[in-house]
Amino acid sequence: MSVVRINAITVPAERADELVERFAHRAGEVSKMEGFEAFELLRPTDGKDVFYIYTRWRSTEDFERWLNSQAFGQGHAQHAQRGPVGTGSDLLAFDVVQEEYA
Ligand code: HEM
Repeated sequence: MSVVRINAITVPAERADELVERFAHRAGEVSKMEGFEAFELLRPTDGKDVFYIYTRWRSTEDFERWLNSQAFGQGHAQHAQRGPVGTGSDLLAFDVVQEEYA
């Protein structure tokens, strides 16, 4: 089964719209990678300040290939050029062990 890798970014409330704006202009490179299955930008609605950037991959190797690729750098160009929006980030890793979709 697939693997899920989530980048959990802490973003102060006053910069949340800016993060969403950056993603509105994101490179879109990730979806061209072999083994890419899904991406979601998850904005908190419960008063917390952590955004989840959810990605899903065919395998760990596919995820790591993207992490070490030019596409990853291109996908983070605004981050590199304009500095971070968040104050911290934490990479979460999961195996998908069961699933069901509507
Ligand atoms: C220091 C750690 C990281 C920070 C602060 C960060 C932040 C950001 C930001 C602000 C963007 C929007 C584009 C930009 O501003 O350049 C972005 C794009 C993205 N990030 Fe990260 N990121 C980090 C690492 C990661 C990791 C480890 C993952 C894997 C789950 C990830 C997944 C993504 C994806 C899928 C995109 C969209 C890329 C595309 O469209 O090609 N990020 N990230």
